[in-house]
This record gives sequence, structure tokens and C-alpha cells, in this order.
Amino acid sequence: MKNNILVIGGTGLVGSRIVQNLRQEIPQLNIWIGSRKAQPQDPKYLKIDVQNPDSLSQIKNRGIDLILLCAADPADNVLRYCVKEGIDYLDITKPTPELQRAYRWAKTQKVASQIVFSSGWMGGIVGSMAYHLTPSFDSLKLFISYSLNDLAGESTTHFIAENVTKPFHKYQQGQAVATKHFLSPEAHNFGFGIGTKNTYDFDIPENFIFHEGEKIPNVTTKMTYNSDLVSKALYLAQKIHLFDWLSHSVRRAVFNASGKGDRVIFEVVVEDKQGLKRKISLKDSEGQAHLTAFSAVMHLKKMLSSTQNGVFFSHQIHEPSSVIQALLAQPQISIKIN
Ligand SMILES: NC(=O)c1ccc[n+]([C@@H]2O[C@H](COP(=O)([O-])OP(=O)(O)OC[C@H]3O[C@@H](n4cnc5c(N)ncnc54)[C@H](OP(=O)(O)O)[C@@H]3O)[C@@H](O)[C@H]2O)c1
Repeated sequence: MKNNILVIGGTGLVGSRIVQNLRQEIPQLNIWIGSRKAQPQDPKYLKIDVQNPDSLSQIKNRGIDLILLCAADPADNVLRYCVKEGIDYLDITKPTPELQRAYRWAKTQKVASQIVFSSGWMGGIVGSMAYHLTPSFDSLKLFISYSLNDLAGESTTHFIAENVTKPFHKYQQGQAVATKHFLSPEAHNFGFGIGTKNTYDFDIPENFIFHEGEKIPNVTTKMTYNSDLVSKALYLAQKIHLFDWLSHSVRRAVFNASGKGDRVIFEVVVEDKQGLKRKISLKDSEGQAHLTAFSAVMHLKKMLSSTQNGVFFSHQIHEPSSVIQALLAQPQISIKIN
């Protein structure tokens, strides 16, 4: 079994939780940690800047079996290195446009390792939840209720500030429909005592993963914050193009609402050709960092025991029911199906 891994970004909000979970769950695992800020006291630390491909040379000759990427790498230097060196690769970081580019590139390569993209919502578990409901569907809608009190890393704030003005696609009847964050209000009745809320368009990689990867003709993601006032204000700001006038640093300040940690709730609604709707809802009382770290560790454990090489989205490496069982075994996680 593979036993030697490197977590790049292993000192960040999500990366450090992943490392902590791995140390608890697989104590025999040999874990290296990489990031830009030197930590000379730690012999298992590698000073790596993913923007500088030369710094990856230190990975050589350490027998690394798998690299888990928790630091944004828009130039795909780590992905390219793993494909070239035949090292397994698990990536939780890519926003939609970067995932599209990286996935399409990887698909053209001769791959002699496992290349797994778990950049989707909460570490890429939406697919497993949807396919647990039914093996075939025509439409997937993801509804997210995000708490402003949840903990978010700096990278996440940066992502929203960077992308709030950019159009992205949702898919209707197989056609790409351009939209922007926080537009197109739609009322949705959430479980877990939240009730009916207006939800708004949001760009997460699932739109691409399910449309291009899984050939689903209708894919949309809608989100709302736990404050109706904030959700409505963001909608109005986008409607009047306010974000286009704000500098990146002001936008960062607007979205820098990281709290001390709170629940995350989301619901996946799938509909088949006959119009039959099925819904699965998930609540994690410890929030997004907990759930993302849990998902990443679940994928990583599967990859360590697998020899099936290729390019995958993370839900494609699991049996859907085994993911649901693993989620249900967590005391912080509740799941409802109807
Ligand atoms: N798929 C999901 O569900 C999901 C959920 C949450 C977050 N994410 C993504 O996961 C990533 C980490 O999020 P986070 O909240 O943990 O962010 P964070 O707290 O800002 O942590 C970022 C980590 O990356 C390292 N880093 C940053 N730039 C680097 C570079 N150029 N080279 C090497 N290391 C670098 C940082 O350490 P140094 O500063 O020392 O370099 C730190 O360890 C982000 O890309 C975020 O968008 C994905």
C-alpha cells in the first residue's frame, strides 16, 4: 500500500485539518507538508511555492506516492509535475475555469497515476449524494445555505473577490446560460428548520462537472446566506453592477466575513426524465472546513488502496452508498433523503 504523501498547503485552514485527521486516522502514514513559509523546526517540511516550478524539484527522491493540493495553483504546475512523474494527485482547490482547463488538459495526457479532482463543493461529494438517490437523472440543482459565521480561509475570500464580477455558466436543456453570482432569485424550501429562502446563482465547479463530465443537460447551483438582508444586498449590488466599480481590495473587504465556525447546509435535488424529483439534504454542524477535510481524507484513503489509474472527479472513485455510510458515521453530519 502507498504510504508516503505530501500535502501542499498543509498549514492552511483546510490543509491543517486534513493533516490532523490523517495523523489520527492513519498514524503509520508518512506525511510531508509543503508551503511557502519555511518551518525549519519540522524535518517533514518542504518549502514549496507552487507558482515556482523549480521549487518542486525537492519532491524528487523522497518516494512521494501522492500529492494532495490545498494551495491554489492556477498554472497547474503541481498537476503537470504529478502527470510527468507518475505520482497520484488529489486537488481540492480549483475554481470552475481552472478546473475546466486542468481537467481537459489531463484528459489529453497519458496518465500513469490517479489524477483526482475533488475541487467541487465540500471536497466533491455532491456527485456521490446525487447518484445515491438514483443512477440516472436529467437535472441537478444544488441549493446551499451558507452561514456568515462559518470559518473561511483567506484563499476563499480571495476567490469570491476575484470572481464576483465575472460571468459564468449554468445549463438549461443542454445550453450554457450566462449568469453572475447572486443573480436570478429563486425561492427554495430548505430542511433543517431553515424554511423558505430566496436563493441566487452561484459558481461552483459542479456546474461544469455535471454538465461536461456527466453529460447532465440541466445543472444549476443556487446559494443564500443565513442573513436575508445580506443575500438581498448582494443581489441588488450585482444588479446595479456595483462590484464592477469596486477595487479588488474593497471587494475582499466586503467578502471577508470569516467567523469562528458554524454549520453548513446544502441540498441536492435531482429530477429524472419523467419529472420525478428526489432530494438529499446534508448538514455539518462544524462547517465547511470540517466537511471539506473529511471528504478529502475519504478520497485520499480510497486512492491509497487503489491501483486504478486515470483522470477522475472524486465522486467517480467511490460507490455512492459507501460515501453516504461514511458521512453518516460522523457525529457532526446529518443527512435526510426524500
Ligand atoms: N473543494 C472545496 O470544497 C474547498 C473548500 C474550502 C477551500 N478550498 C480551497 O482549498 C484551498 C485552501 O483553502 P484554505 O481555506 O485552507 O486557504 P488558506 O487558509 O488560505 O490556506 C492556504 C494554504 O496554501 C499555502 N499556500 C498559499 N500559496 C501558496 C503557494 N504559492 N505555494 C505553496 N503553498 C501556498 C498557504 O501557506 P503559505 O502561506 O505558507 O504558503 C496555506 O498553507 C483554496 O484553494 C480554497 O479555495 C476548497
